[in-house]
Amino acid sequence: MAPVDPEEAEEFLRLFYAEADEPGATAVKGSAGRTAPLEERLEEVRDEIERTGTYVHTSAELAFGARVAWRSSARCIGRLYWRSLHLRDRRHVVAPDEVAAECVGHLDDATRRGRIRSTITVFAPDTPTAPGPRVWNEQLIRYAGYRTGGRVLGDPRYVGFTDHARSLGWVPPSPMGRFDVLPLVVSGGGEWAEKGPQFYEVPPESALEVELTHPDHDWFAELGLRWHALPVISNMRLDIGGVSYPAAPFNGWYMATEIGARNLSDSERYDMLSEVAERMGLDTSTDRTMWRDRAAVELTLAVQHSFDQAGVSMADHHGESQRFLRHLEREESAGRTCPVDWSWIVPPISGGLTPVFHRYYDEPSESGPMFRMDPQQAARGQGCPM
Ligand code: ARG
Repeated sequence: MAPVDPEEAEEFLRLFYAEADEPGATAVKGSAGRTAPLEERLEEVRDEIERTGTYVHTSAELAFGARVAWRSSARCIGRLYWRSLHLRDRRHVVAPDEVAAECVGHLDDATRRGRIRSTITVFAPDTPTAPGPRVWNEQLIRYAGYRTGGRVLGDPRYVGFTDHARSLGWVPPSPMGRFDVLPLVVSGGGEWAEKGPQFYEVPPESALEVELTHPDHDWFAELGLRWHALPVISNMRLDIGGVSYPAAPFNGWYMATEIGARNLSDSERYDMLSEVAERMGLDTSTDRTMWRDRAAVELTLAVQHSFDQAGVSMADHHGESQRFLRHLEREESAGRTCPVDWSWIVPPISGGLTPVFHRYYDEPSESGPMFRMDPQQAARGQGCPM
C-alpha cells in the first residue's frame, strides 16, 4: 500500500480536535482521551509518516473515526445513535485463526442474547510494509446457497461464495438445508498474507437465529422460515485519515423490512411471495390483485412479530424513519451536512407512508472517515478471488 497522505491525516486530526472541543462532545465516549494538543499531535504524526509511511491512531482517534464513518454512511437509516458505536480495538490481530476467533467474539459481544449493541471490531490496517487481514464474507452470518439442478437450495446470493468455501474444504451439513450458516473465510495479514484464505465454522451458539411465525396465521410456521439476529457487514474497508483498515466488521440491528420485504421476498433471494400469497388464499393469476404487495406486508409483519416475541432487537420502518429525521435535524443544528442516498433510506414497502420519502437530501460526500466497498472485496464476497 502507498504511504499515507499527510494532508488526509491532518484533515482528520483537525476534525477530531474540533469536534472534541464542541459542547456535548463528552457524549462521544472516549473522545476526551486526547494525548496531546493539536499542534503537537500533528507534528508527531507528520514525523511518523515521514519515517514509516503511516501512523498509528490513538484509541480515541480510532473510535471517533469509526463513529464518523457510520455517521457518513449515506445508505444507513439508523444513524441517530452513531455516537454509541462500541469499538473492539483488535489492531494487533493479523493471524487468520485469531481473526476468526475475534469475529466470533464480535458476534457474542454484539448479540447479548438479543439485546443487540452496535459494535465494530477493527483489525490491523494495510501499511506500506504489510497488508492487514481480510474477511471474505459479506456478513459474518449468512446462509449457504446450493445449486441443485435448475433450482437453488438456500440463499441464491451466496451460491458463488458457498462453492468457494467448499473448494477450500468446507463440508456442508448433511442433509443440506435452506439456512445453513456459512463458514468464515479469512486471509491473514502480515506474514500470513502470502498464504491463501482459510475457512472457520461459526459455532452455532454464536449465531442467534429467530424462527418465523405470524401473529394471525398458524400456517406461517409451517413454511420453516428463520433468519439470523445480527447483520454484521464484514467486507467493507474502513478509511480514517489516510489509514485503511481492510477488515473492520460492524453491526447494528435489523429493520423488519430488510428481511421480510427483501431477503425473503426478492426473486433472486428466497423468493417466498407466491408461496405466502397462495397460503393466504390470494389470486396470483394477475398482478392486479396486488398479491405480491399483500404477501410482502404479511411476511414483514411475521418477521417483526417473531423478533419481538424472541426479545431480539429489531427496528420498524415507521419508527426508524422518524428517528432518522431527528438525526438529520441534529446534524443540521451541529452545522454539518448529512449525506443521504434516497433509494436506500426509503423502505422497500410503504415508502410513501414514512416521512423519509417526502423530501430531498444532501449528496453523499467523498472525504472524511468512511466505509468503502472496493471491487476486490466485493468480488471476494461472491467467492471470486481477484
Ligand atoms: N440488508 C442487509 C441484510 O439484510 C443488512 C444491512 C445492514 N442492516 C442493518 N440493519 N444494520 O442482511
